[in-house]
Amino acid sequence: MSFDKLGMTNGRLPRATRAIYPGSFDPLTNGHLDVIERAAGAFNELIVAIVVNPQKRNPMFTLEDREKMLKECLTHVPNVRVEHFRGLLADYVRAQEADVIVKGLRVVSDFESEMSTALMNRSLSNVDTMFLMSDAKYSFVSSSLVKEVFFLGGDVSAFVPSVVLDVMSRKRSALKR
Ligand code: PNS
Repeated sequence: MSFDKLGMTNGRLPRATRAIYPGSFDPLTNGHLDVIERAAGAFNELIVAIVVNPQKRNPMFTLEDREKMLKECLTHVPNVRVEHFRGLLADYVRAQEADVIVKGLRVVSDFESEMSTALMNRSLSNVDTMFLMSDAKYSFVSSSLVKEVFFLGGDVSAFVPSVVLDVMSRKRSALKR
């Protein structure tokens, strides 16, 4: 492929890519943040989409808290928007006219579940999922493990942004009352 002075490919503008990174973000971890920063570098526009009612579990943090934490932690990434959605990701992806879904992969067991999810989403929306490998230092970090360790008194400051740690500390104090 050849690029001319305007960055056009063969006389056409390069394709703009809008990617969606969906998740529960209950709460945002440094592993999520790393994937978001790298995906924002790879695509023109990245929508970080919080699922309102994740399957199988009640979120510990309200949608407002999750949205606020994400927005505060992403002020340094200009091409990222934080949004939320209800229902099927495939419907949301189509409504947003997204080109691609982004997911992070930590370990092989993630791949097993993500593969069927990606195929189902492509079948429903005709949109592919692209995977970014998590940084090795976050390969064991998940929102659920971070919550469990934190609420049992462990130090999770290496695994979540300080904004998130503050919100978690307030939540723990409120729960003790
Ligand atoms: O951070 P999580 O909880 O691992 O994210 C899971 C998420 C939100 C990506 C997934 O649960 C999802 O896509 N939910 C929307 C409902 C949906 O589309 N389900 C069918 C998937 S094929």
